[in-house]
Amino acid sequence: MADEKKMTGEVYHPAPEVVANAHITDYDKVNDQATKDLAGFWGKIASENFEWYQPWEKVLDDSNAPFYKWFVGAKTNIVHNALDRHVRSANRNKAALIFEGEQGDRRTYTYQQLNHEVCKFASVLRSMGVGKGDRVTIYMGRVPELMIAMLACAKVGAMHSVVYGGFSTEALLDRIEDSKSKILITCDGAWLRGNIIELKKIANDAVDRAGTIQSVICVKRTGQDVEMVPGRDYWYHDLMTLPVVDPNAPTEVMDAEDPLFILYTSGTTGKPKAILHTHGGYMVWTATTLKWVFDLKREDVWWCAADPGWITGHSYIVYAPLVLGITSFMYEGAPTHPYPDRWWSLVARYGISVLYTAPTAIRGLMRFGESWPNKHDLSSLRLLGSVGEPINPEAWKWYYRVIGKEKCPIMDTWWQTETGGFMITPLPCVPLKPGSATRAFPGVVVDVVDEEGEPVGVNEEGYLVIKTPWPGMLRTIFGDPDRFVQQYWSRYEEQGWYLPGDSARKDEDGYIWVIGRIDDVIKVSGYRLGTAEIESALVSHPAVAEAAVIGLPDEVKGNIIKAFCILRQGYEGSSKLEQELRDHVGKEMGPIAKPASVAIVDSLPKTRSGKIMRRVLKAQEMGQDVGDLSTLAD
Ligand code: PRX
Repeated sequence: MADEKKMTGEVYHPAPEVVANAHITDYDKVNDQATKDLAGFWGKIASENFEWYQPWEKVLDDSNAPFYKWFVGAKTNIVHNALDRHVRSANRNKAALIFEGEQGDRRTYTYQQLNHEVCKFASVLRSMGVGKGDRVTIYMGRVPELMIAMLACAKVGAMHSVVYGGFSTEALLDRIEDSKSKILITCDGAWLRGNIIELKKIANDAVDRAGTIQSVICVKRTGQDVEMVPGRDYWYHDLMTLPVVDPNAPTEVMDAEDPLFILYTSGTTGKPKAILHTHGGYMVWTATTLKWVFDLKREDVWWCAADPGWITGHSYIVYAPLVLGITSFMYEGAPTHPYPDRWWSLVARYGISVLYTAPTAIRGLMRFGESWPNKHDLSSLRLLGSVGEPINPEAWKWYYRVIGKEKCPIMDTWWQTETGGFMITPLPCVPLKPGSATRAFPGVVVDVVDEEGEPVGVNEEGYLVIKTPWPGMLRTIFGDPDRFVQQYWSRYEEQGWYLPGDSARKDEDGYIWVIGRIDDVIKVSGYRLGTAEIESALVSHPAVAEAAVIGLPDEVKGNIIKAFCILRQGYEGSSKLEQELRDHVGKEMGPIAKPASVAIVDSLPKTRSGKIMRRVLKAQEMGQDVGDLSTLAD
């Protein structure tokens, strides 16, 4: 443990009993072991904690970097480790998933029951011709069937491509087309804040325009009438009673490096990128990071309050908890429905012991005051977590004091869709500083550097880089390996470092403080949105000739979107049109992408090569110095 006296700033030291009982009690020791022999370290973890149909010939193959391979030659399937092996053990009758719907309906699946549902749905998919390497798009609310669908895809060797249920037609259409999915799995609707989000209606619009989808499977959730196209659309509950359905369907044997899923995320420019993760490395990485960082034990009830449609939900709702054989809780709806104590009532009812959420949710709930959490018994909590954006110290302290009652360490985990799992994060034995994700996970070497790759001074801002490969790393961008190299590995090509696209600083104690994105990604309520996609939604409106969007700081959401639009000839600016443009983005992209405000302008600052200089717009909006304008065209 670090020496208390030597650390700078505000430090929260872990209680001795927390450290003594943790899986990892000495960060430096484990980190040393990992960095000295990375392949040996991960080889040992992988062989002791997971089942493989066939062992690997080599743990790490870096001969074709940055196309790294892990557990080369090994055979497994993540579903074998998440379900099959538990069903053979005493875990069979343990709760795998406890679910509560927004309307108050409750369901529990044991490992045995969840496995049956997954096997049944896997045989449905097989009967539709889905197999190794196929892509299946999933567009659903936060319900157990989403998890079942993902696991069934993995079981038959198909790649799922989950599209967040808060996205709308355009976003769904783009992702279906890029992935060339043959099957879409959706719901009639999803409950949110007491309202129905009409997922099937949006899905119909997208499927009508996408050329690739042959069949649509629809889960009945909200029960309103929906349009089902004969010969194309099938009810999930009908398919699950067909004679082909086999509750003991076999699990496909996969190569460790075979794709498990693709997940679209926004990057610097252009269309969203399909990040590809694999069965072997991703499994080892997500399960090990979850076990060590949140110190999960058999008796824990883990609640990752993210949406399965984002990487946090993929890794830490669906896969890692099941691989570890623990009990997860999932809640369908909004934290404030019907009252701002919904979450706290759930913690008390289900005895949640570890809660993992985003700063924006904490800030949102903080606004309602302490009386709401104080109405409930939160004594089951023993660890808390944060993810998605930097957590401001005020929110950190409120979370620590009001929710954790000053006894639950807060694990502020920095990572990305691309990294698969936690990268910079405390472990329960590491002293905490509110607002810092502390240090890299054992074996990960990170630094903060300048343009040339030289380390910047203490507390100076620079580019965050990752200098070592890790098992959970993205393998490529599906369908675009050049872009994978260009986007992540070209800035520090000579050094062979990975560029996450964040700026950060490192303090006197070597603690990392992530500042924010250096590219055109905007984080709204922790959701990662690309300016390009929102701008293209704006110009799809007949009134808009050109558009630029920027993120502006917001107390609760972290950032809000401001749009600047140049109108086509014949259109005139008005508050009615501004409102219409906001609604248009909401309809095309989804409510989370809706600009908070729209400004109609005559011109946009551009470079001579025609690139919009968003930083100039942002500086102007924030009353800051616009900086170097030498590349400005006009
Ligand atoms: O900017 C960082 C921010 O979220 C980005 C990754 O977004 P996404 O791929 O959607 O994954 C989010 C969930 C893992 C990062 O580049 N970010 C994520 N976690 C943190 C964070 N920024 C600061 N602190 C964090 N703990």
